[in-house]
Amino acid sequence: MGKLTNKTAVVTGGNSGIGFFTAKDFINEGAKVLITGRKSEAVNEAIKKLGNQTEGIVSDQSSLKDIDNLVMKTKEKLGSVDILFINAGVAAFAPLEGITEESFDTIMNINFKGALFTLQKFLPLLKDGSNVIFLSSVNAYTGMPNTTVYAASKAAMNSLSRTAAQELAGRNIRVNAVCPGPVETPIFGKMGLPEEVMQEFGKNMQARVPLKRFGKADEIAKLVTFLASDDAKYITGAEYVIDGGINILN
Ligand SMILES: NC(=O)c1ccc[n+]([C@@H]2O[C@H](COP(=O)([O-])OP(=O)(O)OC[C@H]3O[C@@H](n4cnc5c(N)ncnc54)[C@H](OP(=O)(O)O)[C@@H]3O)[C@@H](O)[C@H]2O)c1
Repeated sequence: MGKLTNKTAVVTGGNSGIGFFTAKDFINEGAKVLITGRKSEAVNEAIKKLGNQTEGIVSDQSSLKDIDNLVMKTKEKLGSVDILFINAGVAAFAPLEGITEESFDTIMNINFKGALFTLQKFLPLLKDGSNVIFLSSVNAYTGMPNTTVYAASKAAMNSLSRTAAQELAGRNIRVNAVCPGPVETPIFGKMGLPEEVMQEFGKNMQARVPLKRFGKADEIAKLVTFLASDDAKYITGAEYVIDGGINILN
C-alpha cells in the first residue's frame, strides 16, 4: 500500500518541473491527483504522461476568477481534498533599477497573491486532517542580488504558511513550506534571458552550491510527498530547506 492511498491531491503548476514530478510521485503512492497549468496543451501533454486517472484543469493562479472555477471543478471531480500543493510560480530576476511595476505585479500576483487566494478558496474543500504545502524558495532567506521581487514573493509565502498553520491547526490541517535551492527545471528557460547568460548563471550557481550541482525535481518531490503523508503528521508551520547547502553560505 502506498503512503497516499485513497488520498485526493491538487497540484498547481503540475504540468512541468517540480509540480509534474510531485504529481507523479503522489500517483505512485496511491493518490488521485488533479493538476493545473496555464496552457491547455501543456496540461493535456502532462495528463498523457501521468495517466488517464489524473485530472487536468487550465487555471491561471493569478486570476481569482480562475481559482473560483478551479475549486468548483475540483469539487465535481474529487469531492474533497486531502493534499493541496501550491506550487505554480514564475521567476524573473532584475537589479533594483530594472524592476518595473509590471514585472512586480506579474511575480507577486502569481507567486504570492495567487498562492494566498488558492489556499483561501480551497478551505471549504479541505478535509479536517488534510495538509497544505507551499513551494517556496531558499531565496526567501538569502538576499541573492537581482532577486528582490522573487525573493520577497517567497518570503511572503513563508509568512503566509506560518500564519495559516496557526489558523488551521484547530481543524488539524497541517501547513508547511518547502524551500529549494537551484533545481534543474524549465523555469530558467522561461525567464527570457539569452542562452549564454543562462549558461553562465548555471555554471556560477553550480560552483556556489556546496554539493556542486543543481537539485533534481524528483528529489524535491520526495520531500513534498513525505510532508503530505502521515509520516509527517506532527509537522506543521515548518519550512524545509532543500538546496545542496547553498543557504549555509549566506
Ligand atoms: N527550479 C528552481 O530552481 C526553483 C527553486 C526554488 C523554487 N522554485 C519554485 O518551484 C515552483 C515550480 O517551479 P519549477 O522550477 O518546477 O518550474 P516550471 O517547470 O516552470 O514549473 C512551474 C509550473 O507553474 C506553472 N505556472 C506558472 N505560472 C502560472 C500561473 N499563473 N497559473 C498556473 N500555473 C502557472 C507553469 O506553467 P507553464 O508550463 O505554463 O509555465 C508550470 O507548470 C515555482 O513556484 C518556483 O518558484 C523553483
